[in-house]
Amino acid sequence: MPGKNEDITRRGFVKGAAGALTIAALGMAGCVGKSEPQQSANNNDQTSAETLDANEKEVTTMAASEVPQFDLTKGTVELNNGITMPVLGIGTYILSSDQAERSVTAALDAGMRLIDTARIYGNEDGVGRAIAKSSVPRDEIFLTTKLWTADFSSAANAIDASLRRLNQDYIDLLLLHHEAASDEAAYRAMEDAVAAGKVRSIGLSNFYESGFERMLDAVSIPPAVLQNETQPYFQERAVKDFIAQTGTVLEAWFPLGGKGDCRTLFADPVIAEVATNHGVSPAQVIIRWHLQNNNVCIPGSSNPEHIREDADVFGFSLTADEMAAIDDLDRNHRFASY
Ligand SMILES: NC(=O)c1ccc[n+]([C@@H]2O[C@H](COP(=O)([O-])OP(=O)(O)OC[C@H]3O[C@@H](n4cnc5c(N)ncnc54)[C@H](OP(=O)(O)O)[C@@H]3O)[C@@H](O)[C@H]2O)c1
Repeated sequence: MPGKNEDITRRGFVKGAAGALTIAALGMAGCVGKSEPQQSANNNDQTSAETLDANEKEVTTMAASEVPQFDLTKGTVELNNGITMPVLGIGTYILSSDQAERSVTAALDAGMRLIDTARIYGNEDGVGRAIAKSSVPRDEIFLTTKLWTADFSSAANAIDASLRRLNQDYIDLLLLHHEAASDEAAYRAMEDAVAAGKVRSIGLSNFYESGFERMLDAVSIPPAVLQNETQPYFQERAVKDFIAQTGTVLEAWFPLGGKGDCRTLFADPVIAEVATNHGVSPAQVIIRWHLQNNNVCIPGSSNPEHIREDADVFGFSLTADEMAAIDDLDRNHRFASY
């Protein structure tokens, strides 16, 4: 059967533009709110496809069976480009620059090594300040930011602007924030940034099967990560199966249900019972469920106590029955308003 492996080879994906980096990573109240800025999914990209020189390509032979599995003893996953990513970190959506600085500082102090921000959050400078003042070496930190849709037609400049705001020489993971006009050109600008050493890994956010497939046909480096809303009531299993063809890892945004709805998940009887079983909080149960399901998890918080709690999920594990019970909560129910 012509498998996914053959499909990947046909596409001629570049593998491992940057060298592998080993990163040692780890570990109620507060819900009321809103969704991220909305972006409609239109595709009017007029830019013609550019192709890399075939001699510059190293074709991957990654098989579906090599879909990245999380190592929960180290708290990491090896991406499809050979780079190691922490599987748990801090999200910074809705945080001001000063709040983001405090939350990232608390997360680094609690042992988290993954940071998620975005140009549209307006807090990249605060994230940069937290990294600068931390004693954690930069090469142990995995920093993610995202290109906003309005910048897709001038993505190269936008990447440089993010680097300046973050006060960084490189970004570990850069995502297209949403499917939108000029997304293919923007992705190719991210590929150029990988070649230039400004970005180590690239990926997508808020893409579903057809958009993901379209991008695969237009680009050279397969997305290392897809960041989509994923939580117990909206588990993204079909998308996850789909992106397995390129060994792309799913990263969950709104992993706890978001500021507006995390209390709904915390109060779910199944989640509450599992929390009681383990003597942990519902937030910790949900985070642990994500990690055991191979979903990278970036809970957002402005509260250092919550951040310490969210980091502390490596001292217990959910049983197969508990995992199945939470899997059964899937009901195609999004909390985001788009
Ligand atoms: N790519 C995208 O389009 C997209 C969209 C949305 C989000 N994101 C990213 O994903 C991250 C996560 O999403 P999110 O922050 O919106 O939602 P979330 O992580 O699902 O939920 C955040 C809410 O959970 C609360 N919380 C966190 N830990 C807690 C704990 N231990 N106990 C009680 N409450 C707790 C926080 O309140 P406190 O502040 O009081 O702790 C906050 O209200 C974002 O921060 C952002 O980086 C990406």
